[in-house]
Amino acid sequence: MGEPKITAQHIRESKGHRRIPALTAYDHPTTRLLDEAGIPLILVGDSLGMVVLGYPDTTHVRLEEMEHHVRAAARAKPCALLAADLPAASYEDPEAALSSARRLIAAGAEAVKAEGGRRIEGQVRAITGAGIPFLGHLGMLPQHVLEEGGYHIKGRTGAERDALLADAALLEAAGAFAVVLELVQPAVAAEITQRVSIPTIGIGSGPDCDGQILVFNDLVGTYPWFTPRFVRPKLHAFTSMREAIRAWADEVSGVTSQAT
Ligand code: KIV
Repeated sequence: MGEPKITAQHIRESKGHRRIPALTAYDHPTTRLLDEAGIPLILVGDSLGMVVLGYPDTTHVRLEEMEHHVRAAARAKPCALLAADLPAASYEDPEAALSSARRLIAAGAEAVKAEGGRRIEGQVRAITGAGIPFLGHLGMLPQHVLEEGGYHIKGRTGAERDALLADAALLEAAGAFAVVLELVQPAVAAEITQRVSIPTIGIGSGPDCDGQILVFNDLVGTYPWFTPRFVRPKLHAFTSMREAIRAWADEVSGVTSQAT
């Protein structure tokens, strides 16, 4: 018999019992691999834009592109909960948010994520009110990188700390099953983790969150041209792959013994 299916409710109930390791995937084999490795939460993130599609940031990713990759990931039929990002400009108001969320669910996602707290309260309530599991995202919001002029740590001032706490409380009240904290000052991430009843899943936010999420490509070195400061890759896969490709090319060109 296969492993039991993981739901948003299971992730929510992990708080205080088990830490949550989460990773991104954008295709069928990676989703299958992460699922076989026992990762309980897989995100088809809009980081897709940089690590797969070659855009400079996530603001260029379109809903159609997310749907395409969600379909591929969903074909792996993971036991893990499969969440997907609502891309920039796909949730400008509650009606658009619900319609975009429904499209990702129809493509095979089992939960959706969007960036923001009180600013998108109507959108979050429209999504959770329709019974669609919602994953929050606070701190550095990559979809706002252009307005913010870069990827900056949040929670360094008292005002930012207060805003993050208020946003996290709002997401909890609006029915989010967990919240990603990206580049949040570690002491503030720890404080949010203590204050809310839903799990916090950190990325570059210190060790005291209820879980950690990383972009898969950063973890295994399949996007070596840029690695965020807080990531310590467990593998440098592209380095080994580059060597394998060169060895094969040398064989073909007759530099070394012939390839078969
Ligand atoms: O798009 C993404 O990959 C994310 C991160 C939190 C991992 O949102």
